Amino acid sequence: MNERLADSHRIFDRVSQEYDTARPHYPEALYLALETLTGIRLAGATVIDVGAGTGISTRGLLDRGARVVAVDRGERMLARLRARTDCPALLADGNDLPLRAGAADLVTYAQSWHWLDSALSVAEAVRVVGGRGAVAGWWNTVDPGKADWLAANQVRLAESCPGYIGPVLPGWSMPPMAAAMSDAGLSVAETWVDWTRSVPLEDFLTDLRSHSYIASMEDGVASELLARERAELGRVFPDGRLTVPMRVYLAVGRQGRRGAM
Ligand SMILES: C[S@@+](CC[C@H](N)C(=O)[O-])C[C@H]1O[C@@H](n2cnc3c(N)ncnc32)[C@H](O)[C@@H]1O
Repeated sequence: MNERLADSHRIFDRVSQEYDTARPHYPEALYLALETLTGIRLAGATVIDVGAGTGISTRGLLDRGARVVAVDRGERMLARLRARTDCPALLADGNDLPLRAGAADLVTYAQSWHWLDSALSVAEAVRVVGGRGAVAGWWNTVDPGKADWLAANQVRLAESCPGYIGPVLPGWSMPPMAAAMSDAGLSVAETWVDWTRSVPLEDFLTDLRSHSYIASMEDGVASELLARERAELGRVFPDGRLTVPMRVYLAVGRQGRRGAM
């Protein structure tokens, strides 16, 4: 496994507090699309949430009645999850799940699959859902095409952060999970869900600090960059609350069934 993937949980552990405080949730429409594309009702389903982090996706699934087992390699991220939920939470590698074949209806990766080995992770998920379940990954992203201030913010980040990954980069696309699931023999369906996030400026900045491309920078450099963004964004939103156009990309793979939706 390459170094970036092997160390990702350490980067997130460094910013677990910021992640827990300010990362966005996922909209209701995402969970509805998840049910439609997988053909699985979340209420009563057994779901393994891989790369569960501080539990944003885990809580979304629990709130809709799923029986969730959270899995993450980051001790601090998982400690935050455990502080807020009492579902089983395993400190484990998603590429080698400590779960028996057929143990779950659904394996999910919210904002996390790109940190795992692309082929091993999907093979593990397929094993764990047995012959009947589904695998799903989704990613929240800002939608700079809908707001000039957001496009300018993302361009400044791209120029200042060597590790920036995001929608203003030429050729940028969502992680190729659909292709990996198709390679593993699953029937794949994809969709996008648009939504709007209303967020205090300080939370937006804290959210930025929890992104790997800022979390991996030296503290002083990251603080300077965020001070600049505070000034720039404060001019656009003098009342200190941002309205952020967002999108969630969802990819689902199912076994033995074709043409979801
Ligand atoms: C961006 S966070 C996503 C957290 C959460 N699912 C959410 O929706 O906010 C990615 C998580 O993947 C975890 N992770 C990275 N590599 C992993 C692996 N091989 N196995 C399990 N978790 C991993 C990291 O520790 C981190 O908590």
